[in-house]
Amino acid sequence: MAQPQQRPAKGVVRFYNFLPEGDSFLDEVLTGLARQQKTLPPKYFYDARGCELFERICTLPEYYPTRTELAIMREHAGAMATFLGPDCQLIEFGSGSSTKTRILIERLQPPLYLPIDIAGEAIREAAAGLARAFPWLNINGVCADYTRPLTLPEFAGVPIRRKAVYFPGSTIGNFTPHESVEFLKRARRMVGPGGALLIGVDLKKDKRLLDAAYDDAAGVTAAFNLNLLARINRELGGDFQLRRFRHKAFYDEAKGRIEMHLESLASQFAHVGGERFRFRAGETIHTEISCKYGIEEFQAVAQRAGFAPEQTWIDAAKRFSVHGMIAK
Ligand code: AVJ
Repeated sequence: MAQPQQRPAKGVVRFYNFLPEGDSFLDEVLTGLARQQKTLPPKYFYDARGCELFERICTLPEYYPTRTELAIMREHAGAMATFLGPDCQLIEFGSGSSTKTRILIERLQPPLYLPIDIAGEAIREAAAGLARAFPWLNINGVCADYTRPLTLPEFAGVPIRRKAVYFPGSTIGNFTPHESVEFLKRARRMVGPGGALLIGVDLKKDKRLLDAAYDDAAGVTAAFNLNLLARINRELGGDFQLRRFRHKAFYDEAKGRIEMHLESLASQFAHVGGERFRFRAGETIHTEISCKYGIEEFQAVAQRAGFAPEQTWIDAAKRFSVHGMIAK
């Protein structure tokens, strides 16, 4: 007798909010602005407006990383799925809209996907889209600040052979190499011995290309950077005058990294949370670093964190790399 066709069970979709309740945004703004070199952490770029601007950055002609990494994913998703193997739990840091992940999930068919992002709304939207495309997929969305220690929710009921951390977008570049080692050590503990890391890393290249990628002609990156001050005004009652600051981004060849700053165009004051901050004309707030690597240089960083490099996929122009590594 003909058997009815086996249909995979419908996936379970859950959300967890691990963001701290308190005033960490205010605290970190006040601490950062009180420093000699004023700083603001890049994770606060991603409110609703910031996410929207970032998605636009990803389609800019000058911003090659997204397009290049997507092409690498499309070309090598099969090999990456083979590398990770079946019954692989996929944990993604900074999942955002999960565009690259979709390509991987299609090939890998992981029983469980754990997207982690500071932008909760982005996870919900991405999860809804993925649940439609892959009805069998279990999704545990985690809204969290993954720059801090984090314990992932357990998911019983699906057999897991391996855990893999997927960290695309060269978001690792927001950390210094030293911080990257510490971060990757935590990723290693998360996947355990024999676990995997699949990570997108932007490569060192001509300064002109890099400068343009972070200071586009349409001014979208400038708007993205300045939105941090607008967000402080909106959420913390700050009084930054946005027209009195300008976006400044440049590749520092000696440090091998992009630096983004907001430069004060005049001598001025701004107020946040009852505190007054003085700005000299030309003084900057340092808002982001984006470190660039050579292939071996990045492998050395990962090795210091206990990962053994196994495979590297790059585009023909050698602009971007995706590394497959195994936890020792
Ligand atoms: C999301 C951190 C990978 O560093 O290229 C893009 C952020 N900043 N344009 C990067 C960003 C300015 C991006 N990352």
